[in-house]
Amino acid sequence: MTSLPKSASPTPYSKKTTSMVGDVTDSNRDPSSLRSARWFAPDDLRSFGHRSRLKGMGFDDADYRDRPVIGLLNTWSDLNTCHSHFPQRVEEVKRGILQAGGFPVEVPVMSLGEMLMKPTTMLYRNLLAMETEEVLRCHPIDAAVLMGGCDKTVPALIMGAISADIPSIFLPAGPMLKGRWKDQTLGSGSDAWKYWAEKCAGNLCDSDWTGIENCIARSAGTCMTMGTASTMACIAEAMGMTLPFASSIPAVVAEHSRLAVATGRRAVEIAWEKLTPSKILNAESFQNAIITQLTIGGSTNAIVHIIAMAGRAGVKITLDDFDAWSRKIPMLGDLRPAGRFLMEDFHHAGGLSGLLNRLRDLLATETMTVSGITLDKQIGDAAVIDDNIIRTRSNPVSATGGTCVLRGNLAPDGCVIKTVAADPKLLQHRGPSIVFDDYPAMKARINDPNLDVTADSVLILRSAGPLGAPGFPEWGQLPIPEKLLRAGVRDMVRISDARMSGTSYGACVLHVSPESYLGGPLALVEDGDMIELDIANRRLTLCVSEEELAKRKSLWKAPEPAWERGYQKLFAKHITQAHEGCDFDFLVGSSPNREPSIF
Ligand code: FES
Repeated sequence: MTSLPKSASPTPYSKKTTSMVGDVTDSNRDPSSLRSARWFAPDDLRSFGHRSRLKGMGFDDADYRDRPVIGLLNTWSDLNTCHSHFPQRVEEVKRGILQAGGFPVEVPVMSLGEMLMKPTTMLYRNLLAMETEEVLRCHPIDAAVLMGGCDKTVPALIMGAISADIPSIFLPAGPMLKGRWKDQTLGSGSDAWKYWAEKCAGNLCDSDWTGIENCIARSAGTCMTMGTASTMACIAEAMGMTLPFASSIPAVVAEHSRLAVATGRRAVEIAWEKLTPSKILNAESFQNAIITQLTIGGSTNAIVHIIAMAGRAGVKITLDDFDAWSRKIPMLGDLRPAGRFLMEDFHHAGGLSGLLNRLRDLLATETMTVSGITLDKQIGDAAVIDDNIIRTRSNPVSATGGTCVLRGNLAPDGCVIKTVAADPKLLQHRGPSIVFDDYPAMKARINDPNLDVTADSVLILRSAGPLGAPGFPEWGQLPIPEKLLRAGVRDMVRISDARMSGTSYGACVLHVSPESYLGGPLALVEDGDMIELDIANRRLTLCVSEEELAKRKSLWKAPEPAWERGYQKLFAKHITQAHEGCDFDFLVGSSPNREPSIF
């Protein structure tokens, strides 16, 4: 038996890290410098009220006076299938906080569970971000543990923490264990699409389909493919917002419990150090985020989220930044849906630190992390122990990044495609369009035996963008018509202003901007128009003359506004387009941290 290299057990959470920002000594652990002291320390009537009510809850002076108050922002809910282990993790985070001398307080915030929310969690990402910002700002919280994982919870919590600029550390929920059915390893999402296609093609019986349903989600945790949740967890780690290796530790193993305890301990330290997001995140951190998204073959959704998170930090990132990096970054993570393996494999192969160690020369490694050390030190000497899962630079999954950005007269402000998850023969394609005006129209016609569709057709879906759907749902992996599935077709060119699940795959052109609802060129396509997809030259072309398009535009009528009240009206009024990150226009940009009055 050979001894395992260091990274085989890659969680050195007991190792004492050396702080490089706001180095903490006993002398600067001044309780009066804590934010919470403004609530609890003054000898006045208001503070009397704060203290007396805590005492009414059973807390004594010894519990909270002169201690950092650590808010556990918990996105748990019985309706969030990915966070069902959070009640136990909360107790473990609290244990770490208490060990380090802090006072833990659990603060529930909106839970965005992908599986059960309609029309889409993306409609609510900014609502959770706003809630996070305001919850942090209005309470006596010195530092926060951000507990999220399911897709939108990650960017939302981080966006809110950036805007509040209160010391925060992110604890990813961790991926589910690998699914297992018969002799097959199942990946959530990806294998649901794959086997559904086989069922529609008549190749899978009902009992096998039920068997897959019973086996595909084997434990608590997030999707265990490199879908949006895992992509965003890796990005959070690369940006320095988590402890090392946090992005890949499976949700239900003991190592994840130890990560939770260590995160709690570290939260107390960042409270004393005043290690705010603005001291961690800068243009170079977001550059590291882009590189990470590309090298892991990550979700296209991350492009929207990185732009939005950077926007909160006052850093402008454009689609052109992604495209420029995508030409330089090799894809090293061989992970589904673009590759072969799952997050559990990735973790045991060395995790994100192992992978980033192979790209050290391309990363900005002097960026800071919540560990209080640079990314360079956080990566340390992490090794890769399986070159099949984390490839070498000389044998990448793909020589360039997993996604690329296209422009052309069909998408003047850009669109994206995950090239590594598409059939290579479709990356250069010309075919006639079949246009669906909206999702219900697509559902009604897609399996019509009389639909004039071939494998060369280009399926177009409109009214699926931020405003049109509304909410920018994951409808971009349009289903292959059943008659083509039965003929053996498994991929086609599909174009929409929608997003696509990070677990999805196929030659799907997404995020077409401006969206059709606003009269973007996607609104002008007609059945039979020729469309040309040219990945090599990064072009998407609607082969119709400018004169004809101008004529169609003059006849186009803007849709009636769908929303008349409440949050959805706010969303419709202020949401930005896909290439701008879909944040609310009034939340973009860094702002002075306006503290609430203490009176
Ligand atoms: Fe929660 Fe996939 S459904 S991460």
